[in-house]
Amino acid sequence: MNNPARAAILTARLPRVTGGPSERIRAAQPTPDQVGSSSGPSGELLQSGEGPIVDVEHVNLSFRREKGEMQVLVDVSLSAYKNEYVALTGPSGCGKSTLLRIIAGLTMASTGMVKFRGQEIREPRAELAMIFQNFVLLPWKTSLDNVVFGLSSRNDLADLEKKKIATEALEDAGLGGFENVYPGELSGGMKQRVGIARALALGPQVLLMDEPFSALDNLTADRLRREIYSLLMNPTSSIQTVIMVSHNVEEIVELADRVVVLSPRPGHVIVDLKIDLPRPRNKKSDEFMLWVDKLYSYLA
Ligand SMILES: Nc1ncnc2c1ncn2[C@@H]1O[C@H](COP(=O)(O)OP(=O)(O)OP(=O)(O)O)[C@@H](O)[C@H]1O
Ligand SMILES: [Mg+2]
Repeated sequence: MNNPARAAILTARLPRVTGGPSERIRAAQPTPDQVGSSSGPSGELLQSGEGPIVDVEHVNLSFRREKGEMQVLVDVSLSAYKNEYVALTGPSGCGKSTLLRIIAGLTMASTGMVKFRGQEIREPRAELAMIFQNFVLLPWKTSLDNVVFGLSSRNDLADLEKKKIATEALEDAGLGGFENVYPGELSGGMKQRVGIARALALGPQVLLMDEPFSALDNLTADRLRREIYSLLMNPTSSIQTVIMVSHNVEEIVELADRVVVLSPRPGHVIVDLKIDLPRPRNKKSDEFMLWVDKLYSYLA
């Protein structure tokens, strides 16, 4: 890692515990079904001195429409802790993407707030990177230039440094050797990898992903999920927590340490569950299937 900002983040990190939050965090968390939206783990963890990395506090959001206000989110609270992979799910239109945009600082909540390490997020911050639901690459730019483009706001970096970071990020995302290829020549999975590289290049501490695998065929999605998970769990990665929006129940049970289920619009938290299956997770095991059934029952 030759990016000094990234290196600084890395040296500040504690070793990652494979498979989810630290034992201390595990011990402090209530059991599944006991976790609630507002009485969740944050109080206990703050007492233990290990606060959340992302804290969504009583967020409400309404959009103004011709016929009046449309309420999208109602009193949504959730937290994401160090080394946690949090999934956010719920029916279509319940406000998942909107919530992710609020966390990213791209949309302001009507009331309530989102904090990153205790500081209110009022605008996009370099520590939080987002992979959008419909990720669009600039077709006239190569993979490398698409990733470099994502670094436009880094005025502190010379062009050569940006290229170096982008090259490294493409390699991390499994696209080494495809730097000079244009999006039109890439498969769907490869395009998504460029999107992931673009997020990784920023050296974020928080990765926000909006249905990152939904546009891919099953085999490609499966492979990319495994790769992304091991990439994120790699101790050399800057990422400390992930919040992923997904409709795919099996994907959630495979990847997430915790899942937050939103109700139909206006979205509020129905349940916040810790998925305490050991890793690597066996999709064919009875325990896995029980979790899948359980999640479906909340979404039905
Ligand atoms: N900028 C906006 N202005 C007005 N309404 C909006 C805006 N963005 C989203 N909405 C509305 O807010 C609601 C929630 O949208 P959102 O995209 O967050 O849902 P979602 O849960 O991500 O849905 P999906 O699962 O289909 O992606 C929808 O009814 C949508 O029409
Ligand atoms: Mg969405």
